[in-house]
Amino acid sequence: MTTNIIDPWGSELAEDYDKIVKSFGLEVFDSSLFPEPNKIMRRGVVFSGRDLKIIADCIKKKKPYYALTGIMPTGDRIHIGNKMVVENLRYFQEHGAETYILIADLEAAATRGVTLEQARERAMEFHVPAYVALGLDPEKTTFYFQSENKEVMNLAYEFAKKITLSEFQAIYGNADPGRILAAVTQVGDILFPQLKKKMPGIIPVGIDQDPHIRLTRDIAARVKTKYGFIPPSAIYHKFTPSLDGSIKMSKSSPAGNIDLPEEIKEVCQKLKRAKTGGRDTIIEQKKTGGIPEKCMIFEMHKQHLVEDDAELSKIFTDCKNGVLMCSDDKQKACDILTAFMTDFNAKLKEAKKHMHKLNFIKFK
Ligand code: TRP
Repeated sequence: MTTNIIDPWGSELAEDYDKIVKSFGLEVFDSSLFPEPNKIMRRGVVFSGRDLKIIADCIKKKKPYYALTGIMPTGDRIHIGNKMVVENLRYFQEHGAETYILIADLEAAATRGVTLEQARERAMEFHVPAYVALGLDPEKTTFYFQSENKEVMNLAYEFAKKITLSEFQAIYGNADPGRILAAVTQVGDILFPQLKKKMPGIIPVGIDQDPHIRLTRDIAARVKTKYGFIPPSAIYHKFTPSLDGSIKMSKSSPAGNIDLPEEIKEVCQKLKRAKTGGRDTIIEQKKTGGIPEKCMIFEMHKQHLVEDDAELSKIFTDCKNGVLMCSDDKQKACDILTAFMTDFNAKLKEAKKHMHKLNFIKFK
């Protein structure tokens, strides 16, 4: 595995986030740039980005900008890591961004072999209401399907002429036709809001999407005289690790995943088997303390479960000092997740009832 290439369609990634920052010339995320940073921004889970200052300025000076992200409607569930995209999107939504969410049905067809009908059905039955249930304001969000957005497709075709096969290969390491189509379509998505209004835009995504951001920034520069697009900014969060300690939750090792939704009994059983920073015996743990830095339960608290910073740091020190035992901490995680899952299920049900009210762009 090299760090020259990030594969947005792969499931593995180089472990070392610092190395990624260096290899790809990313900006290290500085939460002091942003007013009222959310918990993943404050805690270094959001770790890097591109052109972040422009966005911080828009927020501070109340200038127009947009936040946009895409949903890949492949599975019939998502996992808890996806919640972070919504958390960041919501942050910008609450700080003045025009908010867009597109459903990447064309990408799903071109790269995962899902039909457009299946993609639409999954998006409407689950993914879109799930994003609303996770806290997005549906009244302030504009949605569209890639397959209906002729302007995006027109851009994609034009952009296809602006990149060579070897450039594509250098970015993605692979250039199968479906991926090329999906990538130029995504560039169209990212720049689409600027067809109406030139303004900075921020794309909150997992770090696996950075190749698309680089491609978009290159292409924006190449069509500058015609369109005057402002190159998009991006903000990246780390992955939620698998409970077994590997870098990313993935379908291939379901015992390490927490899905949304998932039966809480199963979730708590998985938590019980999670990799922790605990010692072999309780006596030893009381004496030497645990290692929260290596604990997947602590990582869950940090990324998802504990809102309050003081509470999080108490968990950290209690673990280090041998006051908090793993079994109690796992029970705590199970209790918080139980409440979260119940709330999510109720909100999902509610969101599904209001799907007809969402702002889907209508194309002639
Ligand atoms: N490629 C993204 C994914 O795999 C989906 C996507 C399509 C997207 N268009 C986008 C994400 C534009 C951000 C911005 O999930």
